[in-house]
Amino acid sequence: MTVEVTTPAAVAVPGARMRREIAEQPAKWHDALTRGGEELRAVRARIWNRPPKAVLFVARGTSDHAALYANYLVQTALGVPAASASPSVVTLYGGAPDLRDVLVVAVSQSGGSPDLVAFLEMARAQGAATLTLTNDTDSALARISDETIDILAGRETAVAATKSYTGELLALAALFAGEETLAQLPALPELGEKVLAVATGPVEELAARYRYADRIMTAARGYSSATAREAALKLVETSYVSAHGMSSADLLHGPVALLDQSVPLLCFTSAGPDAREIAQLVDLAGERGVDVDVIGDGTVTGRTLPAVLPRDVSPELRPVLEILPAQLLAAEVAVARGYDPDAPRGLSKVTRTY
Ligand code: F6R
Repeated sequence: MTVEVTTPAAVAVPGARMRREIAEQPAKWHDALTRGGEELRAVRARIWNRPPKAVLFVARGTSDHAALYANYLVQTALGVPAASASPSVVTLYGGAPDLRDVLVVAVSQSGGSPDLVAFLEMARAQGAATLTLTNDTDSALARISDETIDILAGRETAVAATKSYTGELLALAALFAGEETLAQLPALPELGEKVLAVATGPVEELAARYRYADRIMTAARGYSSATAREAALKLVETSYVSAHGMSSADLLHGPVALLDQSVPLLCFTSAGPDAREIAQLVDLAGERGVDVDVIGDGTVTGRTLPAVLPRDVSPELRPVLEILPAQLLAAEVAVARGYDPDAPRGLSKVTRTY
């Protein structure tokens, strides 16, 4: 006799919400660029007409990866210094730097983290202009910020942030990218659909291999280093694998010693200034028998993945697309390892007794 014991949560298909939210992203980007377009253009015009002396981002986790991406944009396109601030400067040490002529940008899908609120309050008191990018315009951060951008990702129900991450990237690109990059934004929703369609099968195959890995390294350079970090975080959160995302420059000097046959390496690169270094890393890893793969347009290839990104996407916009296969991978590895990426560890479980 077969006895099946289930909890109400067990009825849900593991990863169904995360997969749905991953798939929704291109439509959400279209919405953000159309419905949210006017607001983005207005805030952008204010920033570019009178650029601040510096831009300071404040964010955590996934949102901090979006901020890392924006650091590159601000410095290369807007041409002013940018950095990510540590909220503990305020919350642990009571710091209050002079922030006159500085734009402080909080990036937070929930808009509710008390340490970010404390940082923004300090920033206002210290003379900064403040801007919040959030998925909740009723949040504490939105209430205290001079200006707020709604990233319009819609309610995110899976534990791991996916569509709110790319919503943040997109809004940051709309605010801080140069004109040439800006002109490419409307093409992203269609390209995103293509990436998801092309990547799903190959990523499932990769997940079947990663299922057995205890450790995974991810690497990229420049704009895409945000992707490497975010991909690693998604794998850690959903699959409980020890994943580490690094700049390929840092990885090549020292931590490269970690790489062997038991530690797969996943790189992110396409045609552009970062490809040469990633090719060097892929060759080195290959010589050591490392299971190395590349998410990109085929300029550099690893063991199995085909080109999953279209050609001719500028390095500035690649992070919006190349995280899609990595999000899928995290969901698939979690499911392959027997976890439900939609729910925190131990809370959602199917128990089958035969
Ligand atoms: C990752 C994730 C966290 C959050 C972080 C910041 O999937 O959800 O890393 O990104 O806790 O949260 P927010 O963006 O709400 O400030």
